[in-house]
Amino acid sequence: MAKSRVIGSEHIDDARQRGRIVFEVLPGDIVTDLARETAVRLGIKLVDGPLEKPVSPRTDGNTALRRGLLRRSPKWVAPKPSQGRGVRRLGKLALVGAGGVGSNIAHLAANADLADEIVLIDILPGAAAATAMDLNHASGINRTQARCIGGEDLALVSGADVIVVTAGRARGPGMTRADLIDVNTRVIRSTAEVIKTQAPNAIVIVVTNPLDEMTVEMLRATGFPRERVLGMAGTLDSSRFRNALAMAAGVLPADVDAFALGSHGDEMAPITSHARIKGRVLETFLSEEQIAACVKDAISGGGQVVALKKSGSATIAPAHSSIELIDHIRGAKTGPVPVSVMLDGEFGIKNVVLGVPAHLGQNGLVKVEEIKLTDNETGALHAAADAIRNRLGL
Ligand code: LAC
Repeated sequence: MAKSRVIGSEHIDDARQRGRIVFEVLPGDIVTDLARETAVRLGIKLVDGPLEKPVSPRTDGNTALRRGLLRRSPKWVAPKPSQGRGVRRLGKLALVGAGGVGSNIAHLAANADLADEIVLIDILPGAAAATAMDLNHASGINRTQARCIGGEDLALVSGADVIVVTAGRARGPGMTRADLIDVNTRVIRSTAEVIKTQAPNAIVIVVTNPLDEMTVEMLRATGFPRERVLGMAGTLDSSRFRNALAMAAGVLPADVDAFALGSHGDEMAPITSHARIKGRVLETFLSEEQIAACVKDAISGGGQVVALKKSGSATIAPAHSSIELIDHIRGAKTGPVPVSVMLDGEFGIKNVVLGVPAHLGQNGLVKVEEIKLTDNETGALHAAADAIRNRLGL
């Protein structure tokens, strides 16, 4: 047994100075009245410990989601898929759009050496070829085998296993993602025409905004089954939500298990009922107002980057989030992951694309995981579905 401590106001002062907003009180600790008053004054929460310590600061998003869904303790680590077995190296990964997101995906993919060939395509003359060359120039250092190719012709998608589409206009300050619907619908349709003939067996991941609507367009225009047309949003929104919760609670993002579903826009639904910080419900660490602020931060995260950048939107987190989906497709990660898919009655919703937890595999969508949500959360999913249908004029 650890020796009991007398917690005085100086301990609370010290915790505050170190940026803590929670003070762990262990069994047997004596907390003085002054310390309690100081805690109230400084806004520090006294929490009964011992709090479980994170296993490793390298918790990935999927483990966080699985801990939340399966109600595992923060000590739980997903079993690693055995190396070589089940993990597939892609033959060809094609990226339609070699702007900020496309280039970052190429960089991460090349560095992880997850495909034999990585093709970048962009209408801006020379842009894709330059990035591809730049990436190949790094292979002398990182010794990866992946070969990068860049060009302007969409037919370069030919024979790709996975195609990530980021092409289209990005938001400017003050714009919503929905403002891009008309211009980007045209981009998606012309891209889909080529994909349909040149890469008829590909899995397509849509990143172009407005995400859910553009995923519907891609499905329609390719005529591909829902299993092979996915939208990347939930992995990004969930990461932003975890980051916001970690910052508010003064813990590491690896201590946070949480995910966001719904639309990739104003009707996003960060799920608080399954969210945990160090294995505990959010209210252990955060006030109602703080939780609401984190939800808002996740929803507005993309917009905050746009406002700072003035031209263009986020690139790094969206690229990591796209790679997370590719890792699920190739078996490097397993378990449910938040992804936008065409629903077919799951959660009582049909004929619209929405972010939900789902299992992915080498043929794309395997199964939507119908987790239990609160009435409010289910209501938020239905509201998101209605808003997307409205915007699509359905
Ligand atoms: C964002 C864009 C990629 O959320 O939609 O940053």
